[in-house]
Amino acid sequence: MASIRAIATLAITAILATQTSAEETETCGVASYFPTEYTCYNNTSLCPKIYSLSTVPCAGSGGCYSPHSFSCSDGVLRSLPKASSPFTLTAHGVRATYQDKYVKACGGYLAIGANARECTSCPKGQAGVDCASYGRKTVLMPDGAMAVDVPGKQWWYVDPRDGALRYTDAPTLPANGTGVGWNATTTFPPVQDQEFAGQRVSVLENGFFDYESSSHFWFACLRTLTGGVVGTGRTWRIYSSSAANVEWLDCEKIKLVATAVDKKQGAYKYDE
Ligand SMILES: *[C@@H]1O[C@H](CO)[C@@H](O)[C@H](O)[C@H]1NC(C)=O
Ligand SMILES: *[C@@H]1O[C@H](CO)[C@@H](O)[C@H](O)[C@H]1NC(C)=O
Ligand SMILES: *[C@@H]1O[C@H](CO)[C@@H](O)[C@H](O)[C@H]1NC(C)=O
Ligand SMILES: *[C@@H]1O[C@H](CO)[C@@H](O)[C@H](O)[C@H]1NC(C)=O
Repeated sequence: MASIRAIATLAITAILATQTSAEETETCGVASYFPTEYTCYNNTSLCPKIYSLSTVPCAGSGGCYSPHSFSCSDGVLRSLPKASSPFTLTAHGVRATYQDKYVKACGGYLAIGANARECTSCPKGQAGVDCASYGRKTVLMPDGAMAVDVPGKQWWYVDPRDGALRYTDAPTLPANGTGVGWNATTTFPPVQDQEFAGQRVSVLENGFFDYESSSHFWFACLRTLTGGVVGTGRTWRIYSSSAANVEWLDCEKIKLVATAVDKKQGAYKYDE
C-alpha cells in the first residue's frame, strides 16, 4: 500500500508542476517535456523530478519511484534499509546556489552554499593520532554521532529551540601540562544538547535524510555568519520544517540525501 501511494503522489506532483519558464522542451518518444521537470528513460518513460531529483521507472509497475526512498525489483517497490554506514549529505532543491551542494560543518551549524565552510582540526604530534589519515569532510554517523575521533565525541542534532541542524562541540578536557588529563578509561560528561543527538531524523542507506514530521522536507534559510557584516558572507543554514518555521520568508524547501562514505573521510574534530 505504501508503494502504491508513493507512485500516486509522484503522479500528482507531475500534474501540479506548471510550465512557466522559457525553457526548451525535449522529446521523449512522441511526447515533449521540460527537462527541469522530467527525466526521459529509454525514449519511452517520463518520470517527474522532485526537488530536482530524478525519479525512475519501476519496470513492470508502470510507475515512477524515488531511488532515495525505494528499490524496485520485478515491479515491486521496497523501502530502502535504514542507514548503517557513515554518510555525507547533499542538498537538493530548485535554486542553483545550493543545488546538489554538499553540507558542511562549521561553528556548530551544518550549512550549504558558497560561503559555507568546513572547520575541522586535529592535534599535531599527539600519540596515536595520524592527522593525515582524515579526509576532513563533514561525515555523520547514523546513530547521531559525527564521524570524529576526539575523546568524548561530537553529535549532530536538530535544535529543539529553532529547528536548526547543528552539531555539539567536543567536551572540554582537563589538560595536564604537556599531556592531557584523560585516557581510554575516562568517562566524559554529556555535552550540551547531546540528548537530542539524531532525534526525530530517519536516515536511509544512500537515501533520504528526513525530519520526522508530516512534511518530509527541510528549509535552507539565508543567514549571516556569526561575526559577519549584514549583507555579506551569508550562507544557507538548514532547519526542520516545523509549523513555526514555515512562516519564515527567507527559506526554501530542500531535500537532504545521505551518501555512504568511509568514516575516515571525516575529521578528528569539528570546530565550534
Ligand atoms: C524516440 O522515439 C521517437 C518516436 O517513436 C522516434 O521518432 C525517435 O527517433 C526516437 N529517438 C531515439 C533516440 O531512439
Ligand atoms: C527499452 O525499450 C526496449 C524496446 O521497447 C525494451 O525492450 C526495453 O526493455 C526497454 N528498457 C527499459 C530499461 O525500459
Ligand atoms: C590533571 O590535572 C587536574 C587539575 O590540575 C588534576 O585534578 C587531575 O588529577 C590531573 N589528572 C591526571 C591524570 O594527572
Ligand atoms: C587513567 O586516568 C586515571 C586518572 O584520571 C588513572 O587513575 C588511571 O590509572 C589511568 N589509566 C591508565 C590506563 O592510564
